[in-house]
Amino acid sequence: MSNIAYLNSSFVKLNNAKIHIEDRGLQFADSVYEVIAIYEKKFIDLDFHIRRLKYSLKEIDINYKVNEKKLAFIFRKLISNNKLNSGIIYLQITRGIQSRDHVYKRNLKPTLIIYTKNKIFNLPNEKFKGCKVITHIDHRWARRDIKTVNLLPNILAANLAHKKNAYEAILIHKGKITEGTSSNIWIIHKNKILTHPSNTNILNGVTRTRLKLIIKKLKLILVEKSFTQKKLFNADEVFLTSSGSFITPIIKIDSKLINNGKIGNITLKLAQLYFKSLNNE
Ligand code: PDD
Repeated sequence: MSNIAYLNSSFVKLNNAKIHIEDRGLQFADSVYEVIAIYEKKFIDLDFHIRRLKYSLKEIDINYKVNEKKLAFIFRKLISNNKLNSGIIYLQITRGIQSRDHVYKRNLKPTLIIYTKNKIFNLPNEKFKGCKVITHIDHRWARRDIKTVNLLPNILAANLAHKKNAYEAILIHKGKITEGTSSNIWIIHKNKILTHPSNTNILNGVTRTRLKLIIKKLKLILVEKSFTQKKLFNADEVFLTSSGSFITPIIKIDSKLINNGKIGNITLKLAQLYFKSLNNE
């Protein structure tokens, strides 16, 4: 059981980690976050997460100085204390506490929250699983490149997916696929790999970034271009990526089977190489 958290400047028992009722993260989702994968006690791609965290903080004007060394020290301590082998680190920074007002004060002290969760990853071994997903309208705001906790549209779509026994909801904006509620979406069409470009319409995933390097090394063709729902349904293979799911094949979308409901060869190859790259860390 994971039971130690880090709040502001101290390690505390998870049950004693309490937030003020006027924390702006609670009242306004005035807050950014990161989810970092832990695999065999190591955190994955910390540098990419730190870069994105700094970007998110800058874009919503939260004045917090990220100290990468200090964060790495806290992460190691939590991994060790909570005996975490495989799972995630959740990190959230809110703008801080203030008497309720839409307009924020400039001198607030940001709240720092860090804790861990166990998770068994879907790895490309004999138990590698393909999943079913649904499609859903993308109701989110226009700055999806910022990793804020403004996640209500994601949560509602994810719950609808869950109700339909699906793993994820693929979001559609103006007829084009953006991404999943908590993942990036990829299709393979005639040996070409397609994914949405990293602009303000999607979150530029850390897993996506690592996978792009692998695709480049393999000399496969990657097209970063948005694609239609029709193209999604007609894809040869589909998969998703995220720090919580690594590379997870998609074998059914709504009622349509993809690749006859089987994990595709290219997806499997990419998942194997991705997994191998984690072991070489
Ligand atoms: N979600 N798109 C969205 C909307 C996400 O929330 C996430 C991650 C991703 C994939 O990003 P990355 O590869 O950096 O994890 C794409 C995390 C896992 C979450 O909210 O739990």
